[in-house]
Amino acid sequence: MGILGSGVQDGLLLKPITYPWAMDLYNQAVANTWFPNEIQLGEDLADFKRMTDEEKHAITYLMSYFNPNELLVNKALAFGVYPYINAPEGHLYLAKQMWEEANHCMSFEYVLETFPIDRDAAYGSHVSVPSMAAKEEFEVRFIKRMTEETLDITTTEGKKDFIRNLVAYNIILEGIWFYSGFMVALSFRQRNLLRNFGSLMDWIIRDESLHLQFGINLILTVLEENEDLQDEEFAEEIRQMILGAVAMEEQYNRDLLPTGILGLNADYVNQYVKYLADRRLEELGFDAHYNVSNPAKWMATANDTLQLVNFFEATNTSYEVNAQATTN
Ligand SMILES: [Fe+2]
Ligand SMILES: [Fe+2]
Repeated sequence: MGILGSGVQDGLLLKPITYPWAMDLYNQAVANTWFPNEIQLGEDLADFKRMTDEEKHAITYLMSYFNPNELLVNKALAFGVYPYINAPEGHLYLAKQMWEEANHCMSFEYVLETFPIDRDAAYGSHVSVPSMAAKEEFEVRFIKRMTEETLDITTTEGKKDFIRNLVAYNIILEGIWFYSGFMVALSFRQRNLLRNFGSLMDWIIRDESLHLQFGINLILTVLEENEDLQDEEFAEEIRQMILGAVAMEEQYNRDLLPTGILGLNADYVNQYVKYLADRRLEELGFDAHYNVSNPAKWMATANDTLQLVNFFEATNTSYEVNAQATTN
């Protein structure tokens, strides 16, 4: 039958498992369960109060971006992924991921409640700052398509819309844009500031690395099972989506870091964004595009990006062959 479908009565029996990777990720996700109030932010509040205005701006800006976007991921999953998946093990994982996104949203609420940040100003930025609003509009466009009655998941175009939404929220939002923010958030700890906030970010990143593994496996599975999606033009469209997302992130980071803080500036963060985009391209079977080194090597030890790359090294799909043909 394949992993895609929309029959409500299908996928009601868990065993036998068709996609063991989804079951594996579910078990890992459950083992990772945590709660924000396990971390005390008292010392971090003292740090925050003595930080410069630019540093406070960066934290406020990150909260402005992360908070609504955690919820936006859930919309992408609820409207665009869950209804079109047949495998119950996929549903189990998605249910856990959706709780995790809710937990991330509540973690950022906890930070907003603890630090003296103007919540209205923080909430307003995702609409009032053009580079932040642009990233949101990009995502919403793909999610909206998944809710239109004209979408038929049994057609090639319907399946392409499914992949487009997956690439938009998983590869781009969770796999590039969020990691760019994680790096800025964790750079405070590199300067011995906001260390407990850093631990909260570590836990979020640990969840996100599983979200990324699930999304990439889902994309590769759908491509493998549907030969009608394996065309060069579609592969190139996906590649261009990712390159376009890097350009959007560059503008966003120039607004986030108008002046340098903590040894960081927009160019430094944007080099990391390009490094990340290359890893995501490779995980999907494309060649790297930017070929830049990782300016934040300490992030590789702070999260499991490298482990993620290894996880997919063994994956070899026919899509890879097609993608290769496009970039050559
Ligand atoms: Fe999240
Ligand atoms: Fe996520």
